[in-house]
Amino acid sequence: MSEVLFEITKESLETGLRGYPVGYCTTSSVDPVKGLFYAGHPVSEIDQWEPEQVIYLLYHGYVGKPEEVSRFSQDLLIRANCSTALIESIEKLPRNIHPMKLFSIALLLASGFEGKNDYHEDYLNLIAKVPEIAATVINHHAGWGKTKQSQPQLGYMENFTQMLNVPDANQQELARAFKFFNVLHYDHGGGNLSAFVGKAVASGLEDLYGSMSAAMCALAGPRHGKANQDCLTFVHQLVEELGEHSTEEELERLIRAHLDKGELIFGFGHAVLRVEDPRATLLYEVTNQYYASHALVKMAQLLRKVGSKVLQNNPKISDPYPNVDAISGILLTAAGFPCSEYYTVLFGLARVVGIGRQIVYERKEAREGKGTPIVRPKYFFKENKQ
Ligand code: MLT
Repeated sequence: MSEVLFEITKESLETGLRGYPVGYCTTSSVDPVKGLFYAGHPVSEIDQWEPEQVIYLLYHGYVGKPEEVSRFSQDLLIRANCSTALIESIEKLPRNIHPMKLFSIALLLASGFEGKNDYHEDYLNLIAKVPEIAATVINHHAGWGKTKQSQPQLGYMENFTQMLNVPDANQQELARAFKFFNVLHYDHGGGNLSAFVGKAVASGLEDLYGSMSAAMCALAGPRHGKANQDCLTFVHQLVEELGEHSTEEELERLIRAHLDKGELIFGFGHAVLRVEDPRATLLYEVTNQYYASHALVKMAQLLRKVGSKVLQNNPKISDPYPNVDAISGILLTAAGFPCSEYYTVLFGLARVVGIGRQIVYERKEAREGKGTPIVRPKYFFKENKQ
């Protein structure tokens, strides 16, 4: 008899598959109390690593020796430049849609210009090229002009930073923030919406680029990746309403008033976590280390405390603690990138690494190499005469 992992009752229907075990994830896991682990390593262990080291860990499932990581980085470097045709096609796209939609379209275009119809090759090519794709999408949408020549030898996120034409940027400071943000967003277990959607689409044997484009549409929604943009707007509003020097009492009153009107307190709660998101804890630390006197940082720190206190009073809320989105955009703004409509693209730029590796596992390695079958869950018929 096989072990019963989850009992499905009528109450478990229409709950967003919450907690249903559906497969294996080789890249990362999320524990409700301990948070995110990359291949068995807590994020607090890897947050200062170079992106290439972390990508190596997620890709191979073990920590690479320096010479192994260097060979891997060299391979990515060779793959990094996008074809001119791809870049020019992205630059012809209309600019009046959300940059996440442009990013998804850019990934579909990449299938045509870069695709090899091999999940493994396409994955390595995509993670090597995605900094240039994302930088082109942002520069184009923002009207910041042509994307600079890719220089992958500078380092994964250093190259991304130099390609992005952010006005008046301190390149070093930006690269530091982007790198930190990037490694903390590579993956979040197998069941987050974008990873699940990407794998589901790939299970129909859509190629890696198309599956990733679908995954990015899943990430674009405000309940998932766009939450980082919305959180920044929310903290901005709090600063506008209360000023820079708000007290805990003032903020608590305002938050209670928001809740009484049925409004959301952005950046709190998570489907799996039951503690402060360890990614948020690391981001709070770094943000405080470099930008403690920034008005948004002060408000975000106050909200961290007051928001949890207020939400803990509500017994219906199972996770009253801040998640990664509560602070990630604040770090980017404080570091000189106040352009919140691009925050979800930055999330996507990172998440491509984890989702893509999960797709490669399901397509090429799962079930002794046979791969997982097409996703096809059961729905019960329900009469619904309106
Ligand atoms: C994520 O990083 O994907 C989010 O925290 C959402 C999730 O894990 O479900």
